[in-house]
Amino acid sequence: MQQAAKFWDGAADSYAKSPIKDKEAYEYTLGRIKSYLSDTDRVLEVGCGTGSTALLLAPGVAHITASDISNNMIRIAQQKASSQSVQNVRFVTSDLFDSTLDKGPYDAVLALNLIHLIEDTEEAMKRINQLLKPGGLFVSKTVCRPGKGTPFKFRLMLMILPLMQLLKKAPFVKFMEITELEGHIATAGFKIIETSTTPPPSRFIVARKLA
Ligand SMILES: C[S@@+](CC[C@H](N)C(=O)[O-])C[C@H]1O[C@@H](n2cnc3c(N)ncnc32)[C@H](O)[C@@H]1O
Repeated sequence: MQQAAKFWDGAADSYAKSPIKDKEAYEYTLGRIKSYLSDTDRVLEVGCGTGSTALLLAPGVAHITASDISNNMIRIAQQKASSQSVQNVRFVTSDLFDSTLDKGPYDAVLALNLIHLIEDTEEAMKRINQLLKPGGLFVSKTVCRPGKGTPFKFRLMLMILPLMQLLKKAPFVKFMEITELEGHIATAGFKIIETSTTPPPSRFIVARKLA
């Protein structure tokens, strides 16, 4: 886990500067997430990166705990929160499995562009389930196994990924089939209520914790 934190610490500055790759898809997802949240909700975001999404969601909810394994990502997120005078987001350096997140249960847990970076998907889903209230929402966006029609740039990236990982220039990544990912979510005790897919394939999933 320390290795992942180290990688993302090194990537934080350039991640903060890089523009959103697919703005239309991002805006769509943001709108869908907002539609599920209310001003009384206590939300946990795991793998929040530099905090942009948490800060955009903050006006529509009671409170967000936004966490990331990388201290540098959190430092940048905290600077943004302070310059935007956002008061209801607490940014914390924390792994998904850290007990510091146990201050829930939460009304919603968000994991955007995260689950494919975690080795044990089954444990990650169990953990997220445990952090939610019964009936609470798990909202995720996960890069899945590419199939036919995958953009050339992404296929090229996949070809060089093992070398990049060997050189510690890329993190651990696990590309599941969409059916496999959704199977893990269902097995952990969720009912999937909304899905959509955008290239490369990035699967947006909203799931409700069963009571
Ligand atoms: C691809 S970035 C996504 C950031 C943000 N959610 C977004 O959509 O732009 C993945 C983030 O997850 C964090 N991360 C990786 N593994 C993690 C873990 N086990 N627990 C918490 N955060 C993790 C990384 O530090 C990184 O900031």
